Amino acid sequence: MNTHRIAVIAGDGIGPEVVEAALEVLAAAGSTYGFSADLQRTPAGAQHYLRTGELWTAELEENLRTHDAILFGAMGDPAVEPGVLERGFILAMRQAFRQAVNLRPVKLYPGVATPIVGLTSERCDLVILRENTEGAYVGRGSTVHAGTPHAVAVQESINTRAGVERVVDYSFRLAERRRGRLTLVHKKNILIEAGTLWQDTVHDLASRYPAVDVDYVHVDAMCFHLPLTPERFDVVVTDNLFGDIITDLGAVIQGGLGVAASANLNIDGTAPSMFEAIHGSAPDIAGKGWANPTGTVLSTAMCLAHLGERDAALAIEAATVDLLASLPALSGAAMGMSTAEVGHAIAAAVRKGGSFARIPGQSVIEDLAEMASSTPRGTSRRTAVSEGGP
Ligand code: IPM
Ligand code: MG
Repeated sequence: MNTHRIAVIAGDGIGPEVVEAALEVLAAAGSTYGFSADLQRTPAGAQHYLRTGELWTAELEENLRTHDAILFGAMGDPAVEPGVLERGFILAMRQAFRQAVNLRPVKLYPGVATPIVGLTSERCDLVILRENTEGAYVGRGSTVHAGTPHAVAVQESINTRAGVERVVDYSFRLAERRRGRLTLVHKKNILIEAGTLWQDTVHDLASRYPAVDVDYVHVDAMCFHLPLTPERFDVVVTDNLFGDIITDLGAVIQGGLGVAASANLNIDGTAPSMFEAIHGSAPDIAGKGWANPTGTVLSTAMCLAHLGERDAALAIEAATVDLLASLPALSGAAMGMSTAEVGHAIAAAVRKGGSFARIPGQSVIEDLAEMASSTPRGTSRRTAVSEGGP
C-alpha cells in the first residue's frame, strides 16, 4: 500500500474548518482506494506568528521539504497587518519550493449555479496557469521621501526567460493533452519589456508543439471575454499578477470562491507541491460553519492526482460535483449544510466507491495524474535533481 506523506497547514479563519472537511474526504478515499496518508499537522499562521514571531523559517522549510505534498487551508487575520502572513509565508513557500506553476481550473460543473446568465458547463472548461514565483510578486522596489508629498514608490516586476519558459512549456504540454489551444494573456502593448519576453517565449516554444494553436489576449480584454465566451479558452498562461486577478474572475464564473481549487506545482521534482483553495481566510465567517469546503476538497483531489492516486482523485471530484449540484446555495447559512456536513456527505459518497458517472469535458485530474507520472516522485527524486536556475 502506498503511503503519502502530506503536511497539513490549516492556517487561519475558515482554514481549519475547510481543511478538516477535506481530511475526512481524504481518509475516506484512502480506505476505499487503498493508500494511506501520513499527515503532519504544521502550526503556522496568525496565532503562531503572534505567539512566536515566526513565519517561514529554515527549520520549517527543511521539515516540509521531506513531505510528498502540502495541503493548505488559508492564511490572514485582522490581528496581523495585511500582507505580513501572505508575503512572509505563502509567497515564501511558493518561492522556496519553486512552485512555479499555479494551476487553476475554471470548470463550471454540471448543476452548479453561475452568475453568468445562460452559461452552460460545456462552454466553461478551461485551465489558467499562472507563473507563481516572479513578476510583481518578487517584492522588489523602494520608496524615497516616504510619508511626504514627494514620496516616490518604485515597484518592480521581474520576468526571467527561464521562469517564463518553465510555465509556458508546461502550458503547451497541458494544451497538447486537452483541446490543443493555448492563450497567452498579458498587456504587451503597454508593458513592452515583459510582454515581449513572454510573447517571444511562447513563439519560440510553439514550434515544438505543432498540434497546439496559439492565441493572445490582452488582460483587460480577458475580463470581458472570460465571463461572456469562456468556450474560446482551453489553456491560458499568464504572469503572476494578471493570473491572480483573472483567476478570481474565473472563480466567480464557476460558482464562487468556495468552489475554486488550485495546485501550486513544483514541476522539476525538487520540492513538494502545495494545494489550496483560491479563497482567503474569510475571518468574518470563521467558526460559523458557513464556509464551503469544496474548493479545498477539490484541491485535495488534485493533490492525490499529483501523487498518482488517479482513481481516488476522480472519485472525490465526482462525489463533490454531485454534492455541489444538490446545494441550494454555494456558501453561507443558505447553503443548507454546514462545512462539516458537506465534508461528511462527500466522504460518505467516496466510501461507497466506484459508482460515479464520468464528469463531461476535459479532466484536469487525469491530466495531473499523467503529467506527474512522467517525472519521478518522492523524496529520492528531490535529492537526485541538480539545482539549476531559480
Ligand atoms: C491567491 C491569493 C494570494 C496571492 C495571496 C493570499 C498572497 O490571492 O492565491 O490568489 O496573491 O497569490
Ligand atoms: Mg488571489
